[in-house]
Amino acid sequence: MIGSICGTGSCIPRYTMDNNELAKFVETSDEWIRERTGVIRRHIIKEETTVSMASEAGKRALENAGVSAEQIDLILVATISSNVLLPCTACEVQKNLGAVNATCFDLGGAACSGFVLAYNTAEAYLAGGVYKTALVIGSESLSSITNWNDRGTCILFGDGAGAAVLKAEEGVRYLPVTHSDGAKGEALICRSRYDTNGITKKTSDASVNEEEYFIQMDGQAVFKFAVKKVPEVIKEVLVLNCLEKKDIDLYILHQANRRIVEAVAKRLGEPIEKFPMNLQEYGNTSSASIPILLDELNRAGTLKPGQKLLLAGFGAGLTWGASILSLPRKPGTKKLRFGRCFTVTEQAKRVIKRKISKRKRRL
Ligand code: ACO
Repeated sequence: MIGSICGTGSCIPRYTMDNNELAKFVETSDEWIRERTGVIRRHIIKEETTVSMASEAGKRALENAGVSAEQIDLILVATISSNVLLPCTACEVQKNLGAVNATCFDLGGAACSGFVLAYNTAEAYLAGGVYKTALVIGSESLSSITNWNDRGTCILFGDGAGAAVLKAEEGVRYLPVTHSDGAKGEALICRSRYDTNGITKKTSDASVNEEEYFIQMDGQAVFKFAVKKVPEVIKEVLVLNCLEKKDIDLYILHQANRRIVEAVAKRLGEPIEKFPMNLQEYGNTSSASIPILLDELNRAGTLKPGQKLLLAGFGAGLTWGASILSLPRKPGTKKLRFGRCFTVTEQAKRVIKRKISKRKRRL
C-alpha cells in the first residue's frame, strides 16, 4: 500500500505587505530584498490564526479530494507558530471540520522541514494499513514569532496554510530520506516563552533578551547548509528508489529563498523550469510553503496524473529531507508502472545476495 495525494487546499491571509511597506520600518529596500531573496510581498494574519487557516486549507483540500470530513482517519498539522498550545492545532481543525473519526496530533519544531516529515508520517501510517485517509496540513503565523526590527530575518517570512489529503492505495512505495543535525541547531533558534515556572525558575530572568523569543537566524550558515544538503538529499532519495533525475517531473522545494532554489537546480544540473516557485508572493511560510505551492500547481492544472514529484524541505534542528510521490492516475486509465522501482528491502537483498555469491566464489 501507499499513501497517495488526492486533493489539496490552501488558505492565505488577505492582508499583504510588500517590500516597500516593510522598508518603512526596517532599514532595507525593495531592491535588496528582491535581489537577495526573490521575495516581493508576504501575507500577514489579521483576523486569521494558525488554527483558522489550517481549518480552511483542510476544508478546501477535502472538497478538492471529494472526501468527507467523517472519512478522515488522521489529521496531522505541522507548525511552529500555533496560536494554541493545548489542545493541539490538529484537534482544533478536527472540531472545525467535524472530522469526528480522526486521530489528531501536531508535528512541531521541524519548521521548514515540517510538511515533508508530516507527509512521511501520514504516508507510513497509510502504507502500514493503520489508516485509510489522512489530512496533512502545514500552517504558520510566522509574523507572531518574527522580530520586525531585525532586517536579517523579517524580510523573509510570511503567514499561510496548505493541506493535502492522502488516501491508501495499492502500489509500490517510494521511501523518503530524512536527516537531522542537532549540533548545528544554533543556526536557527527561537526561545520558548514557557521556559520558566515562577517557582524554581523565575519569570524575570534578566539575562534573557526579549529578542530571543523571536526567530534568530545565522542567515549565511542556513544558506550554505541548504545549498549543500538539499542537492545531496535529493540525490540520495533518487538512488534509494532506483530513480534518475529525468524521472522527476517537478521538484517542490521549501520556498525559502530564490537563490537557494536556483543553486539547488544548478548543483543537480536540472533546468530551473522543473523547480516551480511562489516565494515572491508569500515569502518563507515554513511548514506551509510546500503544500501552498502544491495547491497552486494543482489548481493551475500544472500537476498531471502520473507525474512524479520530489518534495524537499530543510529547516530548524537542523533538519532536512526529501520524498518522492507519484500523482494518482485518473480512474480507468492505465495503472502506474513501477518496473524500475524496487523497495529498499529488495535492493538490499540483491546487494547481500551478490556479496554472498562473491564470497562463495572466493572460498
Ligand atoms: N536589507 C538591506 N541590507 C541587508 C539586509 C536587508 N534586509 N539584511 C542584511 N543586509 C546587509 C548586511 O548588513 C550586510 O551588509 P555589510 O556587507 O555592510 O555587512 C549585507 O547586507 C550582506 O548581508 P548577508 O547576511 O551576507 O546577506 P546574504 O546575502 O547572506 O542574505 C539572507 C541574507 C537573505 C538572510 C540569506 O542569508 C538567506 O536567505 N539565508 C537563508 C535563510 C533561510 O533559508 N532560512 C530558511 C529556514 S527558516 C525556518 O526554518 C523557519
